[in-house]
Amino acid sequence: MADPFKLLVLPGDGIGPEVVAAALRVFEKLCRLEQIETEIRHDLLHGAAWEKYGSFCRDETVASARQSDALLIGAVGGAQWDNLPPDGATPAERDGLLRMREELQTYACLRPSRAYKPLLTRTPFKPEVVAGADILVLRELCGGLPYGTPRGIDKLDDGSFQAYDANFYSSEEIRRCAVVGFEVAASRRGKLTSIDKSNVMESGILWRRIVSETGVDYPAIELEHLYADNALYQMMQRPTDFDVVLADNIFGDLASDLVASYAGSLGMLPSASLCGLNSGKPAIYEPVHGTAPDIAGQGIANPIGTILSVAMMFDYSMQRKDLACRIENAVEQCLLVGVMSADLGGSASTDQVCEQILSALN
Ligand code: NAD
Ligand code: IPM
Ligand code: MN
Repeated sequence: MADPFKLLVLPGDGIGPEVVAAALRVFEKLCRLEQIETEIRHDLLHGAAWEKYGSFCRDETVASARQSDALLIGAVGGAQWDNLPPDGATPAERDGLLRMREELQTYACLRPSRAYKPLLTRTPFKPEVVAGADILVLRELCGGLPYGTPRGIDKLDDGSFQAYDANFYSSEEIRRCAVVGFEVAASRRGKLTSIDKSNVMESGILWRRIVSETGVDYPAIELEHLYADNALYQMMQRPTDFDVVLADNIFGDLASDLVASYAGSLGMLPSASLCGLNSGKPAIYEPVHGTAPDIAGQGIANPIGTILSVAMMFDYSMQRKDLACRIENAVEQCLLVGVMSADLGGSASTDQVCEQILSALN
C-alpha cells in the first residue's frame, strides 16, 4: 500500500483559518471518495505563532514541513506584527512565510488566473476583452528584493534616514526558474513572456540573458521579453495574448495580484510553490491573497483561491490531474448556479460556497 500523503496545515492569520477550513473539507472529502490515505498535521505560522510561541516560524514547524509532502497555508500578516522583531532582523526572522519558502526552497511559484464565464461582467474589463483569458504567472519566490542583503534603514549625520534593499539574482537562480517556465509553457499553449527591467537594472540584464540562453533548449516555445512596466499595461490591454508570464520575486508579486482582476476577485487565485517540477520535495499551496483584515472573522471570505490551491496540490504533488479537474469543475458549477461571496457581488458565506462546491464534487 502507498505511504499516506503527508499534509501540514498552517492556517495563518486573519481570514487564513476561515479559507483553510473550507479547503481542507474539500481535500478530505476527495481523499475519502478516492480512498487516498492521508496524514494531516496542524501547526501555527506567523502572527498566530508569534502570539503563542514568540516566534514567527519555529524550528519544529520547519522540521515538520520537511517531513511533509505538501503544506496548505492560509495567509499571514497583520499590521500588529509588522514591526516585530526590531530592525536588523533578517526577512526570514520577520516573516514566517518568507522563512518557510526559503527553508523549503520553493522557488517556482505558479499563480494561474483566468476569466470565468459567469463572472465576465464582474470584472473591471469589457467582457469581450477578458473572455478567454487564461494566464499563469510564474513568480520566482526565493531570491530578489524580499531576501537580498545588504538591507536596512540608516540614520544619516543630519538626522534624516536612508533606506536600501538589494535585488540579488545568481544565474542559477534565474535558470532553474526559467526551466520551470519553459516546461510549464510546454504543457499549456507554448508561449512564455519574460518580464524584467533590463533597461534600468543589472539584475534585469542578467535575467533576460539567462532566460534567453535557457530558451535555446526549448525551440518549440515562443519566447518574448517585455519590460515589466509595459508588460503590466499589455496584460490589461490584451489579456488573452498571454500564456505563461515569468517574473522575478517582486514583479511576479505585482503581476499576480493584477491578473486576479481577470477572475473577478483576488479571492479566486490559487498558487503552488514548488522546488522544481516533479522533485518529490515538499511544496507549498496557498491562495495569492492576504489576510484581508477588513473582512476577517465575519465568515464571508471567498474560499475559492484556497480550494483551487488544493486542486493544484492534487495536480503537482499527487499526480492526480483528474482530481484537480474535478475540483475545478465543482468550482465552475458553483459559480454557474450563482453561489458567490461578497467580493464577487454575491451574498453567500464562506461556508455556503464551500457546501456548494462539496456537493458539486459528487
Ligand atoms: P489582502 O489580499 O489581504 O486584501 C486585499 C483586498 O482584497 C481586501 O479588500 C480584502 O478584503 C480582499 N480580499 C482578499 N482576499 C479575499 C478573499 N478570500 N475573499 C474576499 N475578499 C478578499 O491584501 P492587503 O490588505 O494588502 O494585506 C493584508 C495583510 O495580508 C498584510 O499583513 C499583508 O502583508 C498580508 N498578505 C499576506 C499574503 C500571504 O500570506 N500570502 C499575501 C498578501 C498579503
Ligand atoms: C504574497 C504576499 C507575500 C509576498 C507577503 C505576505 C510576504 O504578498 O504571497 O503574494 O510578498 O510574497
Ligand atoms: Mn502578494
